[in-house]
Amino acid sequence: MYNVLVIGSGGREHAIVEALRHSPSVERVYCAPGNAGINTQATPVEIPVDDIDALARFATDTSINLTVVGPEVPLSMGIVDEFLRRGLRIFGPTKSAARIESSKAFAKELMARHGIPTAASRTFDDFVQALAYVKAGPERSVIKYDGLAAGKGVVVAANHAEAEEALRSMLLDDEFGKGKVVVEEFLDGPEFSFMCLVNGTKVYPLAVARDHKRAYDNDEGPNTGGMGAYSPVPFVTEEIRQTALDTIMRPVAKAMADEGIPFTGVLYGGLILNNGVPKVIEFNARFGDPETEVVLPRMKSDFCKVLDAVIDGKDTDIEWNPDTFLGIVLAAEGYPGSYAKGIVLNGIDSIEGNVHHMGTAVVDGSLVSKGGRVMMVGAHAPSLSEARDKALRDARNILKQSPGLFCRSDIGAKETTVNN
Ligand code: AMP
Ligand code: GLY
Repeated sequence: MYNVLVIGSGGREHAIVEALRHSPSVERVYCAPGNAGINTQATPVEIPVDDIDALARFATDTSINLTVVGPEVPLSMGIVDEFLRRGLRIFGPTKSAARIESSKAFAKELMARHGIPTAASRTFDDFVQALAYVKAGPERSVIKYDGLAAGKGVVVAANHAEAEEALRSMLLDDEFGKGKVVVEEFLDGPEFSFMCLVNGTKVYPLAVARDHKRAYDNDEGPNTGGMGAYSPVPFVTEEIRQTALDTIMRPVAKAMADEGIPFTGVLYGGLILNNGVPKVIEFNARFGDPETEVVLPRMKSDFCKVLDAVIDGKDTDIEWNPDTFLGIVLAAEGYPGSYAKGIVLNGIDSIEGNVHHMGTAVVDGSLVSKGGRVMMVGAHAPSLSEARDKALRDARNILKQSPGLFCRSDIGAKETTVNN
C-alpha cells in the first residue's frame, strides 16, 4: 500500500488527490499545501510548493512511496532532479525537460528541428529587430514573452500597433523581467488540450479536453487560467486525435529523448485545429488546470497503478468513462484583474454534482475564497448538453448563495465543429 504526496493547492491537485483516493493501492494521501476541499480528502502538509528541501525531507521522513507534482514552479526549479538524487520516487519532468513549458524559445526551436507542426515564429531580444519583423508580416500576430509569466505573457495582436505596444512593454519596459520574445504567426481554429503521460519515448495518451481561457461568455474579455472545461470534445474526432498523437505528441517525446533530455511526466499539448490540421500552440510540462478536473474523473483505471506503470515504462491500458464530464469555474468578481478574497462560500453541500476546490480556505469555521478562481462545479452525463445543464444548474445555485462570484454560462454551449 502506498503513501502518496501531491504537491499543489488548486483544482487540479484536488482532482489528482481524489483520483488517488479511489485507488485501491493507496493507503494515505498527503497534500502540500492543499486547500479547504483537498484537506477533507488528504492530510494537509504545511509546506509551500517551492520549498523543495522541506518537501524532500517530508517525503523521506514520512516514507512517501510516490510524489505527484501539480504546478510548474517546483518543476522548473528542479524538484524532480532533487527527489531523484535523494532516491525518492516522483512523477514529473526534470528541470531541463520542464523547459518545454518554461521556455517558449526552447519549445519552438525543438519543434523546428524536428518538423513538428506549429505556428511559424522567430525569437528576439532586440526591440527594433522584433518590430521590423512584425511590420514585414501580416497584420495579425502573436507576441509571447519567453518565460513563465503566469499566463499573462501572450498578446494576440490584431494589428501592427497592438504588436508594437506588446513588444515595447516586454522588451523595453521589461514588464516580466529582462527576457526574449517569440513573435508567432496567428493561427485560426478551435483549440483543444491533449495531455499524455510520458516516459522517454513511451507515450500514454489521456482523454482529450477543451479549456475556455477567456473570462466572459462568447470568448470575450481577458485571458485567464481557464474558466471551464469538458471532455470528450466532439470536434476532435478519433482521426484528428490519432493525427495529433502521431505527428505531435509521440514525435516530441522522441525528439526530447533523442536530444538527451528525455521527458517523464505529463506532456500537455495545447493544440489548435488549423484548416483541419492539428498544430501546437504551446506545451506544458504538467497536468492542465481546469482540464484535469474533467479528465481524471473519467479515468476508470486505477490512477496510482497507471502512474506506476508509466514510471517503470511498462505497458498499460487506460479505460475511460464514455460520459461527457463538464466543469464550470466560479471565480471572484474582478478576476483575472484585482479581486476580493474572503468571500463566504455557501451552497456547496446542496448541489447534485461535484466540486473541485481551486482557491478556498476555512477561516474561523467558515469556508471562504482565497484565490481568483475559487472552485469548479462539475457534472457528467451521456451527452454534452445534459452535462452542461446539470453543471450550470449547480453553478447558479452556488452563485445565488455566494455573492461576489461569477461564472461563464456558455461552457459547452457552442461546441465548435470543424466547419464553422
Ligand atoms: P499560450 O499561453 O501560448 O497558450 O497562449 C494563450 C492563448 O493565446 C492560446 O490559448 C491561444 O488562444 C492564443 N494563442 C497563442 N498562440 C497563438 C497563435 N499562434 N495563433 C492564435 N492564437 C494563439
Ligand atoms: N488550462 C491551461 C493550463 O493549464 O495551462
